[in-house]
Amino acid sequence: MIQITDLSKTYQKSKEVTIPALQGIFLSIEQGESVAMLGTSGSGKTTLLHILGGLDNSYEGEVTINDTSLSEYNLTQYRRFQVGIIFQQFHLLPMFTVFQNVRMPYTLSHPFQIGGGKEKARNLIEQVGLSDRMNHTPDELSGGQLQRVAIARALMNDPSILLADEPTGNLDTKTGQDVLDVLFRLNKEHGVTLIIVSHDKRVTEFVERTVRLQDGAIITDEQSV
Ligand SMILES: Nc1ncnc2c1ncn2[C@@H]1O[C@H](COP(=O)(O)OP(=O)(O)OP(=O)(O)O)[C@@H](O)[C@H]1O
Ligand SMILES: [Mg+2]
Repeated sequence: MIQITDLSKTYQKSKEVTIPALQGIFLSIEQGESVAMLGTSGSGKTTLLHILGGLDNSYEGEVTINDTSLSEYNLTQYRRFQVGIIFQQFHLLPMFTVFQNVRMPYTLSHPFQIGGGKEKARNLIEQVGLSDRMNHTPDELSGGQLQRVAIARALMNDPSILLADEPTGNLDTKTGQDVLDVLFRLNKEHGVTLIIVSHDKRVTEFVERTVRLQDGAIITDEQSV
């Protein structure tokens, strides 16, 4: 369970200029819930995902994951084992193949397990429908395929939380649908908590709950009917 209590974040641009990006957020999300995060550009969505993803630890207020404050976690361990993040810009390593990219989180977190994680990586690649691209490098793949590799990689260490920032943002309708199918199947079949920032209408139809941000604050929080 994710529990966010009075979370605020201010970016200090310069001595005089500060930007309040999050202002007093309260939110609790159950394990296995699917939540769409909406809001106009600059409303604080990515800022919130970065904090939940353990990428940013300068904030006020408290975030607890399964009753432990994020400030008490070793954030490197947290990022490796608890949370998977899918960015809009895939951040794949260009010199490595699909297989190597997907297996990378395992390789990094199990440096002495030579050869481990191979079966798992193959399975994930199959799940996102890319078995026939296993040994291709990112420059040989389409946008939707890259996004699916990024999803497979995010799942390599079995995270209980999946954070996705506009995962269909630059994909065509059909490819975007394939990506959403993969994400929601994981949520439904494996109980992974899914928090997805998206302006895609289809996303709001799939999720159980929609949270809307404006100027760094939650303005609506609705369960889907
Ligand atoms: N590194 C930074 N330094 C200073 N201000 C920042 C920084 N990152 C974001 N901001 C500001 O914080 C606010 C929230 O930004 P954030 O990226 O969270 O918005 P967003 O809701 O994800 O927007 P978008 O839909 O455009 O991606 C914005 O006003 C933005 O200009
Ligand atoms: Mg953003």
